[in-house]
Formats: sequence, structure tokens, C-alpha cells
Amino acid sequence: MKTAILISGRGSNMRALLDAASAPSYPAEIICVISNEPNSAGLEWASNAGIETDIINHRDYDGRTSFEDALHKKLISVDVELICLAGFMRLLTEHFVSKWQDRIINIHPSLLPSYKGLNTHKRVLVDGVKFTGCTVHFVRSEMDDGPIIAQAVVPVRPEDDPDTLAARVLAAEHECYAFALRLVACGATTIVNRTVEIVGAISPETALFNPSPKPLVDGHSTKTENEL
Ligand code: GRF
Repeated sequence: MKTAILISGRGSNMRALLDAASAPSYPAEIICVISNEPNSAGLEWASNAGIETDIINHRDYDGRTSFEDALHKKLISVDVELICLAGFMRLLTEHFVSKWQDRIINIHPSLLPSYKGLNTHKRVLVDGVKFTGCTVHFVRSEMDDGPIIAQAVVPVRPEDDPDTLAARVLAAEHECYAFALRLVACGATTIVNRTVEIVGAISPETALFNPSPKPLVDGHSTKTENEL
């Protein structure tokens, strides 16, 4: 499936997708990378890797509609079938999303629908939740909304700060995004109302605990798993 990646910055998820797509059996082909930010590090990386790149700077347009029209025109001109948002920091309106209905996917660094928006890791730490993670979902015009394709769960550790947590989530993002793109590109996903049905999907059977209900750190608990 001919895929475009839209970025605004560092591009580590973009690199994970390019890496996955370099395997001959991978069902998505990354045909271009587009950034709205002229100086994004990811753009330079993609260009050095020989991928077609383009800059569509939103500041060059007098509104969201004309920016989105330019983006749409570019994507059509290279025969794109699927769009991956990877740290793309512009909200896409219904004007654009409706033209690409169910053909745009995004990665967000939280377990949606919790923690939509920015500064997810900081808010997760303030709330004291024990698990966070990432979500790949089909895009709707509401921010960080749309049918969920895949999620990865990451424990929040007592010693975490937003940076350590972000790094742990980011490692999961790279794997989760490459996996989710594979599912979509090979035609394994079907959207049914707000859910995504996936052919051949296997779900974990057991619950995850954080903290682990095994005996805690030496000397703090001698209780067995059953007693806790
Ligand atoms: C990632 O955390 C992604 O989930 C979010 O923006 C960040 C982009 O990072 N949407 P990178 O540019 O892929 O490194």
C-alpha cells in the first residue's frame, strides 16, 4: 500500500516505519515524507535515506483549508493510498479528513481515550496512574480521536520523570506503529462503528499488575502472590 508519512519534528516514528517497510514482505511502501516544518530533523533524515520529501509549510497559506488543499494535491500527485501521521503537529479538519476517510492513521503517546492532547507524560505522572502507553488509531477530525487499531501498555515507575517515561513509551511507539501499519496495509482491519476488527488478532489472556503482586523489594514484604 503506497503510504505517505507526515511529520513536524524529530521523526523517530517515521524512522521506525521506514525501517519496517524496508523488509521486502512488509505490505506498506513509504513513497514520501512530508513536513509542515522546514527544519524538521526527520525530513533531513528521510532525504538522506533517499526517500522523496516535501515541505508544505502551513505558514505559507492563509488558512487551514488552503494548507490542507496543498497537502491533498501533493498526496494525490504521488498516488498515495494511506497517510501515517507521525508527530505531525497540525490538526486536520473535516475538510481534509473526509477526503481521506479511514485512510489516515496516527500515533499518540497515551492509552486513548485518556490523555488526549499535549504533555501526556507530565499529566500521567501528576495523576499517579500506574500504566500508560501508546495508541495507533484511524483519524477523525476531533483531536486524538478515532477507532483504535493497536495499543501498547507501559508501566509507570516510581522514579520516573516525564523524560524517562517518554523514552519508555517512545520505544513502545516504534514497535506498535510498525505493527499497526502492517495490519492496516495488509487489509486485516475493518472499522465497525467505533471499533476496529482485526483478522487473526491474538489478545493477551492475563492481566498486568503494577506494582507486581510478587513479593515486593527484599524485606518490605514476604507475602506470596496469593496473599496479596
Ligand atoms: C511521538 O511521541 C508521537 O506519539 C507524538 O509525537 C511524538 C513524535 O515523535 N504524536 P517522533 O517525531 O516520531 O520522534
